[in-house]
Amino acid sequence: MENWKYLEIPNYDIIRNKLEKIIQKYKHLLKHGVLIINRETPELVADITMIEELMDFLENKKWLRYVHEYSLVVIEPNKEYGIHIDGNAIAPYISRHRVLLPVTLNEGVYTRFWKTNGEPCKIHYVSADGVKQELLEYDKRICEEIDRYELTKPVVMDSIVPHSVDTNFYPSIRIAIGINFNRNINIEK
Ligand SMILES: [Fe+2]
Repeated sequence: MENWKYLEIPNYDIIRNKLEKIIQKYKHLLKHGVLIINRETPELVADITMIEELMDFLENKKWLRYVHEYSLVVIEPNKEYGIHIDGNAIAPYISRHRVLLPVTLNEGVYTRFWKTNGEPCKIHYVSADGVKQELLEYDKRICEEIDRYELTKPVVMDSIVPHSVDTNFYPSIRIAIGINFNRNINIEK
């Protein structure tokens, strides 16, 4: 795997339907940004861990024991995520690889990977639960695109390669669930 790969999860439609239903209960959290669910909404973590098909998949991969946190990733219409690194680049106790599970399936909106010699700039922002967060952002003018994927299927991706998410040109929000691990997971199996 270089920057990302699709995960073949059996019954992903079932998992996605269950995630969709669960998230309906937490509409107040659906604001642009990345929310670490474990911090303020443990009941949402509890709901996610009730999805047996998802837990079975993580267990079969031997990743379940290393799950560190779940996140809710929301992109509002006309918004995007600029080129940045996060996860392991900010928090060394988080593995560099992250799983992303699409809840909405919007085609044509790419997550792009970039090559750069430039220095990143520290950006602070406030998540939907009011917690200050950090990421390292790059100026697009000094970056060159090297790779991309469409989040229409579950993905495992490298958080320390500069990446961005295109502008959401759909009229509704895009939603994904992220899973971070607390040690490096074996992604080659
Ligand atoms: Fe990111």
